[in-house]
Amino acid sequence: MKTLYSTTDIEKRVLELADTITSDYRGKKPVFIGVLKGSFILLADLLRAVYTKGLTEVAVDFLTVSSYGLGTESNRKPTVTHDVTTDIAGKDLLIVEDIVDTGYTLQFVQQLLKERGPHSLKTLAFLDKIERREIEVPVEYIGFRLVGTPWVEGYGLDGGAFGRGRPEIVAKTP
Ligand code: IMP
Ligand code: MG
Repeated sequence: MKTLYSTTDIEKRVLELADTITSDYRGKKPVFIGVLKGSFILLADLLRAVYTKGLTEVAVDFLTVSSYGLGTESNRKPTVTHDVTTDIAGKDLLIVEDIVDTGYTLQFVQQLLKERGPHSLKTLAFLDKIERREIEVPVEYIGFRLVGTPWVEGYGLDGGAFGRGRPEIVAKTP
């Protein structure tokens, strides 16, 4: 198992993203929408990082989308198993996602939220499996672009239900 991003790499990148997001949302009161389950650790780190940098008025909500079950191949038909409870009409939304792979999950979430009339909608994906993309989706903020198409685990991402608590990000498959 190969470590792709150490805790130091992750911390540094989260702080960089937080810098950009804090300046992009200055004067606004955005809603960060975490896509569960994978994003919960990233969202917690990002939220505290932007707060420390001065973006203190951030609301948070979560959405659970399922498209994998326990396998590693997307069925390309995401469904919502838990929806947000915030009224998002007129709000500045930032979707916070752990990883973008085929693109189907993010396309689905963006479409769903857009229909509810937010003032703005942007997306952060911490990891990008660019070589696996099947449909184009706009992603304004990216943490790291993966080389190759490994199955990754750690920092919120699971390898068959477990491993989300692993502090660094490792490749489980080549
Ligand atoms: P997509 O719909 O194919 O873009 O898949 C995106 C979702 O699949 C992400 O939200 C993750 O939950 C999950 N996913 C994709 N690749 C990985 C991986 O390597 N490790 C863990 N989860 C992954
Ligand atoms: Mg996910």
